[in-house]
Amino acid sequence: MNDRSVTYGSYLAVDELLALQRPRSEGPEHDEMLFIVIHQVYELWFKQVLHEVDHVIELLDAREAHRAQHTLKRILTILKVLVAQLDILETMTPLEFQSFRTRLEAASGFQSDQFRQLEFVLGNKSQAAIDRFGANTRARAALEQRYGRPTLWDAFLRYLSREGYAVPAALLSRDVTTKIEASPDLQATLIDLYRKDPKHAEMCERLVDLDEGIQEWRYRHVKMVQRTIGAKMGTGGSSGAQYLVTTLMTPIFPDLWEIRSRL
Ligand code: HEM
Repeated sequence: MNDRSVTYGSYLAVDELLALQRPRSEGPEHDEMLFIVIHQVYELWFKQVLHEVDHVIELLDAREAHRAQHTLKRILTILKVLVAQLDILETMTPLEFQSFRTRLEAASGFQSDQFRQLEFVLGNKSQAAIDRFGANTRARAALEQRYGRPTLWDAFLRYLSREGYAVPAALLSRDVTTKIEASPDLQATLIDLYRKDPKHAEMCERLVDLDEGIQEWRYRHVKMVQRTIGAKMGTGGSSGAQYLVTTLMTPIFPDLWEIRSRL
């Protein structure tokens, strides 16, 4: 084998990857490794989910419904892993976390720009989320770029309109930086679609799966936070679980939930 041939280690940059876990506690404390690894794994999955959501948007724009749905299925499968991973972190007791928590200083998942990017592409955008990142950082540039771009919901509405569905013009030209609001007119169209068009109803169901999956992750994260730090403040400076509870039960695609009681 010549020195430059590709190996498992060189292709995956294993040396670099294994050098990236850098505990800060004295010793270091045993559980800090798990805490770092799990967060890094989350960030890698966030990267992959963003990659796939961007692809779904492209496929919807190209009217490739089947492939878009296939990609959505992949995202949902990753989301299940993201939720399941919380079980591993829940094997860490409050005292084990306490053994290194002060070394996190103000660091918190609250500062995950990729999580915010995911919120942005799903329609939950805010300038404040961008302003938390310094000028000329990768994170800020990524968020700024996503801020002005259409969300997954916008791509879906555009797709439905091209398929001949009556999507209100105001929604097709809406300001994509604003929150996705429920629309009674669109709901009438969606109810009709659910009754007459199983193929597209199926696609709507996958979007509901995605919505429910993100909400499920939020719920499981809050429960994990409650059992690990109780009512203590977050390292990110929020009230902790009390703040996180306010992010629960908020649908990403409100119309897809609203129509259910009328189907
Ligand atoms: C022992 C484990 C964990 C604890 C105690 C914890 C605690 C918290 C707390 C208290 C907050 C609120 C913000 C703050 O003031 O810090 C928060 C936010 C957040 N955490 Fe965690 N967390 C843990 C694990 C994780 C993991 C593994 C992830 C995966 C990336 C994560 C991602 C996030 C995200 C994305 C937010 C922002 C949520 C939002 O603003 O809607 N956390 N976490």
